[in-house]
Amino acid sequence: MGLSTKIKNKKLTVASLFSGCGGLDLGFKNAGFEIIWANDFFPDAVETYKKNIGDHIILEDITKIKSLEIPDNFDILLGGFPCQGFSIANKKRSMEDERNFLYREMWRIIKDKKPKIFVAENVKGLLSMEGGAVIEMIISDFKKLGYNVDYKLVNSADYGVPQQRERVLIVGNRINKENKFPKPTHGIGKTSYVTTKETIGHLKNLWISNNPQKSNGKIIYNHIARVNVHDKFWGRKNNINQHDVCDYLKEWRNKAGISTKKIDEMFGYSYTAGHWFRKDNNSGSIPNPNDWKKLKEIFNFDSKFDKLVTELELKDIKFEQSLRINNWDSPSDTITATGPEIHPNKKRRMSVRECAMIQTFPDDFIFYGSLGNMYKQIGNAVPVLLAEKIAKEIKNILE
Ligand SMILES: C[S@@+](CC[C@H](N)C(=O)[O-])C[C@H]1O[C@@H](n2cnc3c(N)ncnc32)[C@H](O)[C@@H]1O
Repeated sequence: MGLSTKIKNKKLTVASLFSGCGGLDLGFKNAGFEIIWANDFFPDAVETYKKNIGDHIILEDITKIKSLEIPDNFDILLGGFPCQGFSIANKKRSMEDERNFLYREMWRIIKDKKPKIFVAENVKGLLSMEGGAVIEMIISDFKKLGYNVDYKLVNSADYGVPQQRERVLIVGNRINKENKFPKPTHGIGKTSYVTTKETIGHLKNLWISNNPQKSNGKIIYNHIARVNVHDKFWGRKNNINQHDVCDYLKEWRNKAGISTKKIDEMFGYSYTAGHWFRKDNNSGSIPNPNDWKKLKEIFNFDSKFDKLVTELELKDIKFEQSLRINNWDSPSDTITATGPEIHPNKKRRMSVRECAMIQTFPDDFIFYGSLGNMYKQIGNAVPVLLAEKIAKEIKNILE
């Protein structure tokens, strides 16, 4: 083999930050890249990564790893930097949130290692944060390091992933090339979206267990799920006017001369008890029967509302209204890190394996850790199929 062929056949190398269980990394590996170093500080995710992808992952807080401890000379740096601080799901998002500055760790490593290309992934909320100032700040920070930077909002469903999942991709290169993003292949006027049913329909009635089990000649791993799905709940038997009750409680509280703050302290609540005494802005709430009894002991009020407030009965939950059920004949809703939706059979939530399939992890990719931590690893990941398509575009930039 001549030297030029050897150089051509040499795999492009990748280092990966905030790697989690490795959705993004696996996509790059599948596209022919060699991952030489990875990092995360979530022990279960690191175990999953090691057993499925490779033991090049280091379990450590990135803020404690010096650049000197990271290998040099890799071509690409990946990093799905943490998004909690950025997310619109988190009402406290702010520039001050120290998690927002974990991207600065990525910035430091790009500055010190100078990869040819970097790829960062984040939640959609990043684009609207602080009226767009955060994304501008990030782009300008990376540009200052000599990178040509672009970003794009992508929806996984448009790339053949059976899931609506909008994420921001940021790509930068310092080799004077145009950044490339994969082109949508699925959707209206293109190949049809891949549905939830096509993806996990065959597991519909399979026994729930974390032990491997056989189904249609295949071994199914991690088909374990949360089963806290109830179609009944204890609800108030009688219809009551919330304003009347709140007015009534306010009157008795005034008579007793006790502040809402004091009530909060007595109940050990913060900001909750105050709602019992409001009426104007519809934000009031009626106390539950136990709290009602305690309030009665404090205010010694009459029994005008006792029956109405404290009588409960078992009621049906209207599933579609109160609990999210996954779409069956369209791509799934976003698989999140906090816990999946209810499976359309209504007996359980989606299993770890079903979530993994919707995130396009291969069937033999096995997850480790507690049930909650397995859901978390999967919900955090970049869908493997999307990652692979991103990786192929990165290859196009480099070749
Ligand atoms: C959005 S997830 C990344 C998922 C990953 N890209 C994938 O495709 O599977 C972010 C990860 O950052 C990790 N992380 C957060 N803060 C960290 C820190 N200080 N040091 C190392 N890892 C950290 C979390 O444990 C989490 O696994």
